[in-house]
Amino acid sequence: MKGILYGVGVGPGSEEFLTLKAVKVLKEADVVIAPKALKDGESIALDTAKNFIGENTKIYKTHFPMGKKDREEKIYDIFKLIEKLIGEGKKVVFLTIGDPFLYSTYIYILDYIKKTDIKFETVPGINSFSAAASVAGETLVIGNEPLLILPASKINTIKDEKFIVLMKFYKKEKEVLDILEEKEFKYVCIRRACREGESVLYTREEILNSRDYMSLIIAHRD
Ligand SMILES: C[S@@+](CC[C@H](N)C(=O)[O-])C[C@H]1O[C@@H](n2cnc3c(N)ncnc32)[C@H](O)[C@@H]1O
Repeated sequence: MKGILYGVGVGPGSEEFLTLKAVKVLKEADVVIAPKALKDGESIALDTAKNFIGENTKIYKTHFPMGKKDREEKIYDIFKLIEKLIGEGKKVVFLTIGDPFLYSTYIYILDYIKKTDIKFETVPGINSFSAAASVAGETLVIGNEPLLILPASKINTIKDEKFIVLMKFYKKEKEVLDILEEKEFKYVCIRRACREGESVLYTREEILNSRDYMSLIIAHRD
């Protein structure tokens, strides 16, 4: 089979942070599939990559619904599309923001791909929390300490960790901050790291007044 799937991480959302490998793969792609969060919205991943996609490359923008059942159907549909294109010998790129193996739709698609003989290669991207740490000048983890990375839905699982990264807390900001304060964490919220609209928020008020899905929190305690 001549075709191949590339899962490409585009980094935090500015083309400056694309890797040379990502650019090479994008330039050679026959087809680019770009996920988007809202049905009528734009794809951040595509916006980041667009200047490196060839004129003759076919682009598919795909919306992944929030509901689990709808999303599973959509993921299967995308897998079937990829399977068809690769059967035609195409080089197919599936874009993700940040890194493909960190909370990404690509992971679900790979579950299907791995059950076939389709060739695939993954191009890592700068993940959002590494980008955010650099924007804020904030340590992620040091010495022999572990780093806990968790979505807001799992905030109650924090035990004695001192270094944490909290992701996916849109509309749960208050609950998240209440728990961090109760557990005596110092925190900083980085919104749209390395993208237009980037900001670093240090206070509870700023965070609650500036809600954005593309935000994460880096928190430490002694
Ligand atoms: C579905 S996850 C995608 C993670 C991505 N694959 C990565 O490697 O960072 C979406 C979450 O990542 C975080 N995120 C992604 N890009 C970000 C950015 N530029 N600045 C801050 N947080 C970001 C937010 O917490 C957001 O809710």
